[in-house]
Amino acid sequence: MKIIPIYILLVLAVFLTDYFIFNSYAEQEIPAIDTEASCITSSCHDSMGKKKYVHGVGVNGKHCTKCHKVAQKGEHTFTMPSKAVEICAQCHSGKYIAPSDIKGKPPLIIAGDDIFEEGQETQFHEPFAEGKCTECHDAHESDYYLHLKGSYPGNFYATFSLEAYGLCYNCHKDFRKVLTEPRTLETTAFRNGNLNLHYRHVNKRKGRTCKACHHPHGSDKPKLIKESFMFGIRNLSINFEKTETGGSCAPTCHVPVKYDRYEPIEVLMKTTPAEGEDATDAELRESRKIDLLRMKEKMENKDDGTAVETPDKPEKQSGNQ
Ligand code: HEC
Ligand code: HEC
Ligand code: HEC
Ligand code: HEC
Ligand code: HEC
Repeated sequence: MKIIPIYILLVLAVFLTDYFIFNSYAEQEIPAIDTEASCITSSCHDSMGKKKYVHGVGVNGKHCTKCHKVAQKGEHTFTMPSKAVEICAQCHSGKYIAPSDIKGKPPLIIAGDDIFEEGQETQFHEPFAEGKCTECHDAHESDYYLHLKGSYPGNFYATFSLEAYGLCYNCHKDFRKVLTEPRTLETTAFRNGNLNLHYRHVNKRKGRTCKACHHPHGSDKPKLIKESFMFGIRNLSINFEKTETGGSCAPTCHVPVKYDRYEPIEVLMKTTPAEGEDATDAELRESRKIDLLRMKEKMENKDDGTAVETPDKPEKQSGNQ
């Protein structure tokens, strides 16, 4: 056996002590929370703030504590905001006055056509009603418009692509199917007979986006349908009315139209020819039976979450450290 020269042991010992001391310094240095210093430095959280859409306060090293409170004084432990809505409301709800040391004016939350207020008579989208803002918006940053957690076009028109509506598929798993089949008797209630009206409006070169009709926070109208929408600089009404078996709208873009799932209404509008075959009367009667059964099941078993999955823990966004 070779004897390890003593000088190597010495070097090793010096290295090891240095290493431990360095680390204990480091450990002491990180916990000393200096509220005046930035949390983003070349060695800490340095990957933050590099995505395409940033939430100013979420990537500003001086504002981290607006949402993460120091959990143990003097230590590098922070609380994770649990009820997102409360931290978001500090700045985005008219009920509170946003802190004055932040850059920019936080826009107030809109639901439907109005600025959101508590007690407002609005039918909210379930995740919004439950205060789960961060199911849809990343609190720090993302590659999508409004730092959303999936793709979602911000304009009235968009050329259809399956990838464009990732945000909605996060929970509405079957919507890819809705947007790609011209005829259906089951995947969507927005249909005239078996003519899929989601497909008709969205799946085109100049397709309307979800935003043309829905507001993802809520609306005074059923099914998150907006009362009006901005078309260029004009504000146009939709006048949506829901019926038991369909609905109608009188938008300024075309003559008033109705749809009915079981007794399809003849549309006299000049439009592009419909793809696929009309359902037969027997098929329509059968689909009504199935829908009634599903509705009954849903009423009886309110939270079985058939079509929609709400992930408790959305997929971890990586690279925020
Ligand atoms: C300390 C104040 C503050 C808090 C807390 C806060 N925000 Fe913001 N937010 C702002 C400011 C200021 C802006 C506008 C400047 C910007 O976009 O960075 C903004 C912008 C936004 C925008 C983009 C609006 C646009 O038109 O680009 C969204 C969406 C948003 N915040 C969502 C949230 C959510 C969700 C939360 C809770 C997780 C939240 N905010 C918490 C201050 C805040
Ligand atoms: C507007 C509120 C808000 C601000 C400001 C904010 N965060 Fe967060 N942060 C959150 C929320 C909410 C989560 C939980 C993750 C989620 O729900 O998306 C989180 C999670 C985290 C995590 C856990 C890993 C992850 O990304 O899920 C780290 C680390 C983090 N934040 C660091 C920071 C740092 C550093 C800053 C300042 C540069 C900061 N945060 C500013 C709201 C905020
Ligand atoms: C189901 C997904 C979803 C949830 C949940 C959600 N948002 Fe949004 N939010 C969106 C989308 C999509 C837009 C863009 C709306 C548009 O352009 O039509 C938006 C827009 C915004 C805006 C820009 C102004 C506006 O209201 O149009 C703010 C601010 C905002 N959200 C904050 C919040 C806060 C705070 C919460 C929680 C109380 C929340 N959001 C919950 C999807 C969501
Ligand atoms: C975090 C999960 C989640 C996301 C993301 C999400 N939704 Fe929902 N959505 C739900 C849940 C839960 C329901 C209630 C389901 C039910 O009643 O069967 C719902 C219901 C709806 C309804 C029917 C509302 C009603 O009154 O019956 C519409 C319309 C809708 N979502 C549109 C959208 C659009 C557009 C998007 C993309 C911007 C989206 N959703 C993204 C969870 C989500
Ligand atoms: C032209 C207007 C319009 C557009 C564009 C539109 N929707 Fe809808 N959507 C409706 C109407 C109307 C209903 C209600 C149908 C009913 O219950 O009678 C509806 C219902 C829904 C529902 C409830 C389940 C169902 O299909 O019946 C979801 C979820 C939904 N839409 C998501 C979306 C998403 C995601 C987009 C964008 C890809 C979108 N919608 C685009 C008008 C529209």
